[in-house]
Amino acid sequence: MKNILVTGGAGFIGSNFIRYVLAERPGVQVVNLDALTYAGSRGSLSGLPEDRHALVHGDIRDRQLVERLLSERRIDTIVHFAAESHVDRSIAGPEAFIETNVVGTLRLLEAARAAWLGRGDALEGKRFHHISTDEVFGSLGPGDAAFHEGTPYSPNSPYAASKAGSDHLVGAYVHTYGLPATITNCSNNYGPRQFPEKLIPLMILNALTGKPLPVYGDGAQVRDWLYVIDSCEAILRVIERGRPGESYNVGGGNQPTNLEIVQQICAYLDQRFPESPYRPYSKLLRFVPDRPGHDRRYAVDFRKIERELGWRPRFSLDEGLRETIEWYLANPEWLSAIGRRDDYHGWIEQNYTKRGADK
Ligand code: NAD
Ligand code: TYD
Repeated sequence: MKNILVTGGAGFIGSNFIRYVLAERPGVQVVNLDALTYAGSRGSLSGLPEDRHALVHGDIRDRQLVERLLSERRIDTIVHFAAESHVDRSIAGPEAFIETNVVGTLRLLEAARAAWLGRGDALEGKRFHHISTDEVFGSLGPGDAAFHEGTPYSPNSPYAASKAGSDHLVGAYVHTYGLPATITNCSNNYGPRQFPEKLIPLMILNALTGKPLPVYGDGAQVRDWLYVIDSCEAILRVIERGRPGESYNVGGGNQPTNLEIVQQICAYLDQRFPESPYRPYSKLLRFVPDRPGHDRRYAVDFRKIERELGWRPRFSLDEGLRETIEWYLANPEWLSAIGRRDDYHGWIEQNYTKRGADK
């Protein structure tokens, strides 16, 4: 692996992955193709070395552009993150999810087929790695076994259906054309640079500014939470050592309810900011109407990647949440870059500075 095309590298997991791979693999160069939708930000790329990372502002559906990048930049590895990624948005408007997640993935696969297949030894050292989700497997009941790689697909939301469609396309290119592709189906990621529409950053930033903490339904839904650095490590391991044609499930090994997560964030902030006017932060919690078709429970069986590649998560939920909260406190300029500074920076900076002064 020398020249990587990362799609969606200005988003949450993609930007963390670029940082991770540049630090771990000094010989690697990254081309980052990103359309810079609301979820992508140049702010997430600040400080990256210009001689090893290049942002190309463009759309994965632009097949000519992708083909040109693959050949001009001599790309040997495609790491495909670009997607519409938020379930609530997919319920409000599914079309963009089909366009980006299904059509976009198809165009990338076609570009890889044109550039890599049918040209003598062109497949040597090539890899197409597709990032997917545990949500393709549907919803678990309380006593059901965790999702494994053989669990039948049963997606419920338009988002999950679009990701399932893209996974099947990748599988079809492996089967039909012999494309050396791998897939990781990971659980809910959290950590630095996640757009505050997803549960954890939304709750952190709302709590910090004394806004309500909206818990859907009864808050007893269960997710499997994976710290983004663990996620990046799993992806790199599968790219380098995973068997072509295989998929690997990746999970965090914990399954709290949403309510427990929110309470854990509140408890941390209570002890972190003993003088805060919003203490106890759990006072801000509000039960709001449930998401339509809300999946009740996800849990991931990650024994395959553990057995074959020796990966397991390193971060406990407690450690990961602490790191995440501290990152949002320490990075108001990132909030500026995503257009949210006005909401948050006054309070955060004031309190952060106060803490700095106390040190
Ligand atoms: P994100 O929404 O934070 O980032 C998506 C990125 O893709 C953005 O930078 C956006 O600008 C870019 N993008 C969107 N449409 C594009 C297009 N047409 N062309 C080029 N770029 C485009 O997403 P994320 O949370 O980082 O998720 C990354 C991948 O991981 C997605 O494929 C998602 O389905 C998958 N995944 C995410 C999670 C999670 O918890 N966040 C869990 C499992 C799987
Ligand atoms: P989310 O972060 O949107 O991820 P996903 O839907 O892909 O799992 O939501 C995680 C869980 O938190 C999910 O059960 C929905 C719930 N949730 C809330 O209760 N309140 C919120 O404001 C949000 C955004 C999510």
